Order: sequence, then structure tokens, then C-alpha cells
Amino acid sequence: MRAEQPATLKPPQEQGAAPAATAVAHPNIALIKYWGKRDEQLFLPRTDSLSMTLDIFPTTTRVRLAPEAEQDAVTLGGRPATGEAERRIVAFLDLVRERAGLSRRAVVDTENTVPTGAGLASSASGFAALAVAAAAAYGLTLDATALSRLARRGSGSASRSLFGDFAVWHAGTATGTATEADLSSYAEPVPAAGLDPALVIAVVNAGPKAISSRAAMRQTVDTSPLYEPWARSSTGDLADMRAALIRGDLEAVGEIAERNALGMHATMLAARPAVRYLSPATLTVLDSVGQLRRDGIAAYATMDAGPNVKVLCRRADADQVAAVVRGAAPQGSVHIAGPGPGARLLNEGG
Ligand code: PMV
Repeated sequence: MRAEQPATLKPPQEQGAAPAATAVAHPNIALIKYWGKRDEQLFLPRTDSLSMTLDIFPTTTRVRLAPEAEQDAVTLGGRPATGEAERRIVAFLDLVRERAGLSRRAVVDTENTVPTGAGLASSASGFAALAVAAAAAYGLTLDATALSRLARRGSGSASRSLFGDFAVWHAGTATGTATEADLSSYAEPVPAAGLDPALVIAVVNAGPKAISSRAAMRQTVDTSPLYEPWARSSTGDLADMRAALIRGDLEAVGEIAERNALGMHATMLAARPAVRYLSPATLTVLDSVGQLRRDGIAAYATMDAGPNVKVLCRRADADQVAAVVRGAAPQGSVHIAGPGPGARLLNEGG
């Protein structure tokens, strides 16, 4: 495919030094979920989604061009990447190389501070950091919108991690050419007023998920009789969510997020065969969130492709919510996140 925006080469790099760039990105948690693709190759989603970027669990990725190498060398947390993880990163680098018109291989070193593949959005921070670092190392000058489109090709949810605070990812047009469809699907910031939110993250199981989100969403779209009704209702949820964010109405934001997430999990439970990420510990935490609400604390749950629960509340209530959730899931770990920054380049060596 052709480059989506005019890509210009940066000034020649320092004499002798191989071009390199380091980027950092934070995960995001969707309040209106992305679940289901309409184009698997281009990572075009069926529905719009909306998320909050976190201020914890960053991923730092360094990409260095390696003119001498015949293959990309990828490490995750200091260990060579293998299997599907390596394949996805190399495929992403191929896309960047195609756009840059360069064939040079790269050395990629990634440090995640969140368990990978556990429904904790490590692929969002991972591909957002990789998109920013790889684009810079290969000399592509892309704005944040174009970078969000690029990150989308690694993992859909990564498109939203380009931006801080709240971001919406547009599903884009369903008609037109592949290039038009690609251009129309990107993330951008969403206005939110007067919210001081926290997400209390209950990690009830940090192990890798049994089925990847990619495979699970395909199975849901293909077989679940509840998928289309959820996708339709998600459009209304998104409109309601935007209005609630602008009003700074945390209760409404939480209610909409919780119903959207439970609906997404309902689509999976109705898939054939069923996809179930929720575990007994998930349900125990959900019960504790219900109890918090009955006790007058605004607390609302959302879950992704894993058993872990993220509880939206006011920042002022976060310690209390964390204590209750910790009591409900004493075997796990609990983390408090606020709204975090968008993906960015770090100065090499500084
Ligand atoms: O981008 P992926 O393939 O990691 O899918 C993410 C799917 C959910 O986390 C369940 C929802 C979302 O919008 O982030």
C-alpha cells in the first residue's frame, strides 16, 4: 500500500551513527470498547471506540537501524521475541519500511512494565511506542493522526495510545477504496471537562490469556447472535459517552462504560463456541463494585480480553475503592491509574 500521507525524510543522521529512536507510550483502557474488525488486513474496526490513557505501566521501545543485519532482532524485556509476538513486530516494521522506501533491518528493544497478553493493554502501549520509534528511526515524518493510523496496523487499540487523557478511534468509512478506508480510521483526543477520574486496576490473574483478542473478536463477529445488537447499541453508547465527558458527569461515564463492557462480554458468551474471559475472581470484584455503589461511592467496572477488572471512580475515592477491591481479590494486585500522556519520542541519550 502507498504511504497514507506525504512522508518526508529527515535530515541526514549524524555521520557514522546508525539512525535510532526511542519512544514511550502508555496503555489505554476503553470505556467504549473496540470489539470486532471489518477488515482484518487493515485493522479497520466495526465500531468507534473511546478510551482513557493511563499514567502507569509505560512501554519504552528503542528502534535502531542495523545496515549490516539480514534480519530484524527483537527483544522484549531483554529476551529475544519469538513466535507470534516476533512475527507481528517484524510485519509492522515491514510496513514502516515500505512507507519509508528503505529495506534496512532493525534492532528493536522493548521494555513493558505491565504483564503482556493479560488483557492489560500491553499491545496498545507496545505498538504505539513501536510506531513512534520506528517512524522516527526510518525517517518518516508523520503527525499524531498519521501515527495513530500506523499504530492501528499493529494493534487496533494502539491507535488510541498516541493521545493522552481521553481519545476516540473512528471506525472510518465503510465505502470507498482501501486507501480511503485506511485514511478514515484514526484516533483523536476527546474533550472532557471537570472530571478527576481514576481507574483502579485489579489484576486477578496476570497470566497470558487463553485466546488472543484477535481470534476472540473474529469468532464473536462470525458466530455470536448478540454481536450486531451490541455493535448497534455501542453507537448510542459512544454518543452518550461524549456528552457525559463534556458535562464532566462521572456517574454517567461510569454507567455507560460498564454497560458497554458487559454487553461486549455478553457477545462473547453467546459466540459458538463461547469465549469467556471472566473468571470467578472477576465476578467477586464485580460484586464488590456493586457494593461500593450501594454504599454511595461512584464506582463502575470495565473488563477487556482477560479476567482483570478496571474500576472507574473519582480520584478522591481511589484509595477507598482500591482497599475494597483488594479485599475482594486478595490473591491479586491492585494499581491506581490516572489519566496519562500520549506517546512521545525520548531524546536519544537523554
Ligand atoms: O487491539 P487489541 O487487539 O488488543 O484489542 C483490544 C480489545 C479490547 O481491549 C477488549 C477493547 C479495547 O477497545 O481496547
